[in-house]
Amino acid sequence: MTLSAPSHIYLDHAATTPLDPAVFEAMRPYLWSRAGNPSSVHAAGRRAREAVDTAREQVASVLGCKPGEMVFTSGGTESDNLAVIGVAKAEAERGRHIVTTAIEHHAVLFAARSLQARGFEVTELPVDQDGRVDPADLAAALRADTILASIGLANNEVGTIQDLASLARVAHEAGVCVHTDAVQAAGQLDISVDQLGVDLLSLSAHKLYGPKGVGALFVREGVSVERRAFGGSQERDRRAGTENVPGIVGLGEAVKRAESDRERRSAHLRSLSAALIERVTAQCPRARVIGDPKRRLAAFAPFAFADIDAESLLIRLDLEGIAVSTGAACTSGSLEPSHVIQALGLPDRFLRGSLRCTVGRSTTSEEIARAANAIARHVRALRAVATPPAGGA
Ligand SMILES: Cc1ncc(COP(=O)(O)O)c(C=O)c1O
Repeated sequence: MTLSAPSHIYLDHAATTPLDPAVFEAMRPYLWSRAGNPSSVHAAGRRAREAVDTAREQVASVLGCKPGEMVFTSGGTESDNLAVIGVAKAEAERGRHIVTTAIEHHAVLFAARSLQARGFEVTELPVDQDGRVDPADLAAALRADTILASIGLANNEVGTIQDLASLARVAHEAGVCVHTDAVQAAGQLDISVDQLGVDLLSLSAHKLYGPKGVGALFVREGVSVERRAFGGSQERDRRAGTENVPGIVGLGEAVKRAESDRERRSAHLRSLSAALIERVTAQCPRARVIGDPKRRLAAFAPFAFADIDAESLLIRLDLEGIAVSTGAACTSGSLEPSHVIQALGLPDRFLRGSLRCTVGRSTTSEEIARAANAIARHVRALRAVATPPAGGA
């Protein structure tokens, strides 16, 4: 199970993960011999409906929710959009203020900002230098007209894990509904919705060794979400359109498998990312490990190198067959430091040098050693040709 040619090293599992062969096997019949439409009354349709129901139960059992408290979607982006815009539209009579954070994925941030044109106000909470949201800042931002707080469980660029239970408590004390984007956290953290204390939660299959283009939104019973798609009455009238049956089957299987072995796998990922961090920082002066050192997703090894442009580093590593990222995959191509990196308040000379390495199930210790050596070698080479700007160390 790998995304790279034999001599290549894939360290971009936060962008996407390869499909688990067992997940593919679970999906296969629904692409081919069992390709019924779940809305059809005949036997083929009923078999497809059963498959969707089974997947719903698989995801619900990991979330600790009722199967009916879930909407299948086309992925994390749609789940986030549906949560933010769906709640805003359903609750617009009650209030028009939304709180989120400066480091959310654009699927949340841009959805919230899109509402500003329709008379909503959005507060984007700051984070500290490790990417943590302070519950006191949340408490101070909440108002009588706040209808939603959307705070990601773990950040997709630096892996910082929020103390969501505390944040949710603060929001609930003020009567505010809580959404979390758990797209990166799923498979590495406990995402039981009652433990987290959330009312809505987004998932995406392709970050969990499932297929691309499918996800889910948990919506707690009693929480209103206005529909975004019109047409059929699928997903209890909350999301029109014929269900992506093979994708949904893949999501259910991927979530189940990720959960069954989560702690052992996370410990393995943690030892690999720790080894990468140790080797890179030992070999590279003026390198920082960014994000929260104590509460960071196991797969993440996020760096910021002073006085280099991480895009150039990424290209050099790619030419050597090593896949990494300079930030969110969705924003790559932009040469500006990402909104997340900017929100951490790093000194200027580190701003363009952020590199995200994320390990996965198939990563080996030998790959970690090769990647660390290559990173250190290219950082040295880039610094040798660069003129360092003035700034803090
Ligand atoms: C935290 C987070 N939220 C949402 C998304 C979007 O998910 P999808 O690619 O399934 O639309 C991503 C993907 O990078 C992500 O990392």
